[in-house]
Amino acid sequence: FGEQAEAFAPSNIALCKYWGKRDKVLNLPVNSSLSVSLAHLGSHTQIRPSSSGKDEVFLNGKSLPLEQAFAKKVVSFVDLFRRDQVLPLVVDTRNNIPTAAGLASSASGFAALTLALNRFFSLDLEDTVLSVFARMGSGSASRSIYSGFVEWQMGQQADGMDSHGIPIPVFWPDLCIGLVKVSTGQKAVDSRSGMQRTIDTAHLYGSWPAQAAGDLEKLHAALQSQDFEALGATAEHNAMSMHATMIASWPPLVYWKPESLMAMQKVWQLREAGIPVYFTMDAGPNLKLLFQQKHQALLEAEFSGLEVVTPFAVD
Ligand code: DP6
Repeated sequence: FGEQAEAFAPSNIALCKYWGKRDKVLNLPVNSSLSVSLAHLGSHTQIRPSSSGKDEVFLNGKSLPLEQAFAKKVVSFVDLFRRDQVLPLVVDTRNNIPTAAGLASSASGFAALTLALNRFFSLDLEDTVLSVFARMGSGSASRSIYSGFVEWQMGQQADGMDSHGIPIPVFWPDLCIGLVKVSTGQKAVDSRSGMQRTIDTAHLYGSWPAQAAGDLEKLHAALQSQDFEALGATAEHNAMSMHATMIASWPPLVYWKPESLMAMQKVWQLREAGIPVYFTMDAGPNLKLLFQQKHQALLEAEFSGLEVVTPFAVD
């Protein structure tokens, strides 16, 4: 094998969320989801042979103890590629996601790791197969194999080979994502356990698959007609519907902080005032705003510390 291999993968924001697994081992979702990748914000991963005789996992320059949960997950993921060869490796991941953005990095992390392993072992796998592998690390990572808009098709097969990302060839240059960091505070329940608790305890979850399927159709239509308001409204409704299932779980899963609700109310007031701005939220307290470039200055003035990403900017 080569001396070393490296790869970059972007973070992504889901406009139609993945919430719930139909297979926990293969990481197969209950519903298809749709996201937009965040261009240059994501993870950069390097793989190289380890000279210490054992695996080493670095995150942002810090060595992680191998018994730590994330390091364990990385090593067992590497084993999918290494199989039974004796080949200790160094996995060195750096996220360039601003810490202030409050974005999860497992999507870009497992996608970058998959791409780097594909290079290190000279496998030359197709994108869809790379997406299948990334999915096994973290569901949302299946979408981070691609840039731009991506649909993660849930698939039907028991082996999961048809459950992977597909790029949607739509270019939307004036689309902006604004990252609103509302709070740090204590660590929230992670997505994996959160979605399990929702499935196990929330009757309301029964309505989620149909909501997600309908929203996916609406998003595709909005992408085809470049209808920003339909895109934003569908994404916000989808996120609120997902949060409704979380809140209806027991014990309740409330990812919101008072500041989250204040930011939502500000978005709704701005819309009342005629500014087309929408939001989406994941398993955490931070909002991600969706708006058009012409409103960037106004929104930067309204939300202090807003981090703006333009997924389709040509630089
Ligand atoms: C709310 O992909 O982090 O962000 O597959 O268990 O690793 P695992 O979960 P993960 O879940 C993401 C959930 C979400 C919605 C989304 O990104 O689609």
